[in-house]
Amino acid sequence: MNNSSHATSQDSGVSAVAPKEGGGFPNPGLPPHVHRQADVSPAAEKRAERLVAGMFLLSVLGTAIFIAAYFVVTPTGTNLFAEEGTSQALWWSNLVTGLGLAIAVFFIGAAAVHWAKTLMPDEEMVEERHDIRGSDETREIAAGIITDGLEESGIGRRPLIVTAMVASLAALPIAVLAPLSTLGPLPGNKPFHTFWGQHPGQRLARDHDGTPIKLSDVAMNSIFHVMPEGLTEDTPHHLEERAKAATMIVRFDPKFGKNPESLANGVEGVLAFSKICTHVGCPAALYEQQTHHMLCPCHQSTFDATDGAKVLFGPAHRPLPQLPIEVDDEGYLVAPGDFPEPIGPSFWNIHKDK
Ligand code: FES
Repeated sequence: MNNSSHATSQDSGVSAVAPKEGGGFPNPGLPPHVHRQADVSPAAEKRAERLVAGMFLLSVLGTAIFIAAYFVVTPTGTNLFAEEGTSQALWWSNLVTGLGLAIAVFFIGAAAVHWAKTLMPDEEMVEERHDIRGSDETREIAAGIITDGLEESGIGRRPLIVTAMVASLAALPIAVLAPLSTLGPLPGNKPFHTFWGQHPGQRLARDHDGTPIKLSDVAMNSIFHVMPEGLTEDTPHHLEERAKAATMIVRFDPKFGKNPESLANGVEGVLAFSKICTHVGCPAALYEQQTHHMLCPCHQSTFDATDGAKVLFGPAHRPLPQLPIEVDDEGYLVAPGDFPEPIGPSFWNIHKDK
């Protein structure tokens, strides 16, 4: 049996290691350490140092290319290589900004790898296994080794590399900041106002055909989708204004009303609520005549029209804002002002409680 095993090892060309007495195998040790060029030649060391620094600086160049390209090789504005607004302009913009970023990131990585491979210490070390926590003495030695390692890595002695590295790492985040500088204008107070507030006393008009609505037009248990009468296609930013001013009016017998304040902001059981769901802004425009519930089809938020559009169910966190309405001398429904609070989804300074 032993003979057969011995023959197999020789046949396969693997030299057999004789087991130690008592089991186990002798430690084969490490192969002899091969010194790198930079370890033995000061000139090679200097060359490697310059190469590493050069790569870090190429990274800075890549960042600069990205930033410059972001402003002068744009898809819709200035473009040095193609006519603005064309697909060629978009192609050039993507190409040059992408290349700039790729160069910036690649050369940071390449420099770090080359630095480690040519200049950092590469002596093989063997440490026998031992308890996970070393003795205090060992820990002190370890701390000393780390300190020595830092010393040997030459960070303190290689200011050129360190400076170039810091420059490349500091420059890269600027590539992230550059696009931030071209984000759109701040919304200002637009989220707080709608077209209803711009012209107090506007009539409520049917959405789409624009005819104003009389109180007598609103049958019991009916619903109308309305817009301010003065909001037309000639209104500046009319789509944006329509999106914010969308309102629905419902009518129910006031004796079913549970919220006196809400009833007081309507006329004879006709109440107007924002159509924009306070969850994430879908049109909450489904109405159940029997229950007087208004439903949002997106995530099933349900609002009670008889109770100031209070949330009954679903992910919305606040009632649909109510638009106060009145009746003018000719019997038309009018809005004396704006919604008393921002319409739509809650945002940073809107109270979220139900
Ligand atoms: S948007 Fe209305 S429930 Fe989500």
